[in-house]
Amino acid sequence: MKTTNASATGAARFETIAYPDLAYTPEVAEATAEAYEKVKDFIPAIEWAALAPYIHAINKIKKQRNAVILAHNYMTPDIFHGVADIVGDSLQLAKEATKTDADVIVQCGVHFMAETSKILSPEKTVLIPDMDAGCSLAESITGADVRKLREQHPGVPIITYVNTSADVKAECDICCTSSNAVQVVEAMGTDKVILVPDQYLAANVARQTDVEVLTYAGSCEVHERFTAQELRDYRQIDKDVKIIAHPECPPEVVDEADFAGSTAHMIDWVKENQPEKVMLITECSMADNVASETPGVSYIRPCNLCPHMKRITLQKILDTLVNMSGEVVVDLDVAEKARASVERMINLKN
Ligand code: 13P
Ligand code: SF4
Repeated sequence: MKTTNASATGAARFETIAYPDLAYTPEVAEATAEAYEKVKDFIPAIEWAALAPYIHAINKIKKQRNAVILAHNYMTPDIFHGVADIVGDSLQLAKEATKTDADVIVQCGVHFMAETSKILSPEKTVLIPDMDAGCSLAESITGADVRKLREQHPGVPIITYVNTSADVKAECDICCTSSNAVQVVEAMGTDKVILVPDQYLAANVARQTDVEVLTYAGSCEVHERFTAQELRDYRQIDKDVKIIAHPECPPEVVDEADFAGSTAHMIDWVKENQPEKVMLITECSMADNVASETPGVSYIRPCNLCPHMKRITLQKILDTLVNMSGEVVVDLDVAEKARASVERMINLKN
């Protein structure tokens, strides 16, 4: 169930906009030339001729709508470099949703991200280009499951990874992301916490703190597929390659990596360390997106695609903006409780 019964904040009140012409004209080529410069190594010119008219149209209509496009680091490079106003990891996008003056947020990411934006900006119209862009973690746990955990472990704080529904966030004490999970666990001030639903993130966090971390049986279908043996094999083939992994990977995979961190921390690590060769053990679009900002680094690209993230395309973003479709609504009571959980996280001192 992706939407709830609260009244929408008025996608219907927006003016009608005609569907744009999508010809690849010299004007379109010129307007999109800067974006193409960043992606030309992975998008052939002939493909760009088909993508550029969408980019041009989206950038025009988002101004007319006073819309902002928030895009996760796993979006394809045409979206990431072509139309996104703000890019980042889950924490950066959540923070940005609290700051924007736009009337409309178009969330290029998965449903829980759009819901988080709506929770934090209830007065804004939040749109997602594909309502079915889900997440194996978010689908692994419900609010009722959290209530059961609370009964089983009275008094133990329950932390939810941001990759969960508003219902789950509403039942938990605080939210966390892969950028700040250790900090949030330690901020609880208890000997024991429950961190749901990612068993691997929880196991990776547990190794960095003295707090006992109980968890749940959820996992990310993208990161759980990497294996430690696979990483050892890569190193065997090339001893100089640096390997960096996302903490949603199993701990034995993280053990084989030179660094583990959220998608934003992975990007920062590459920029700071400028390795000659690097392998990003995460979703496939990451390497493409960061490559244009790190010209001296060569990327070795074993990766796993997230089928949910890949549901978001330029065509769907344009449809969403023209039709003001895909509005995300959250029940007001649920949103209020979930907001408290997310705001507790955002307000933690660094
Ligand atoms: P971060 O961008 O917060 O590291 O999250 C990764 C992820 O899998 C989001 O779905
Ligand atoms: Fe969910 Fe994993 Fe896809 Fe992120 S990469 S949206 S955690 S399934």
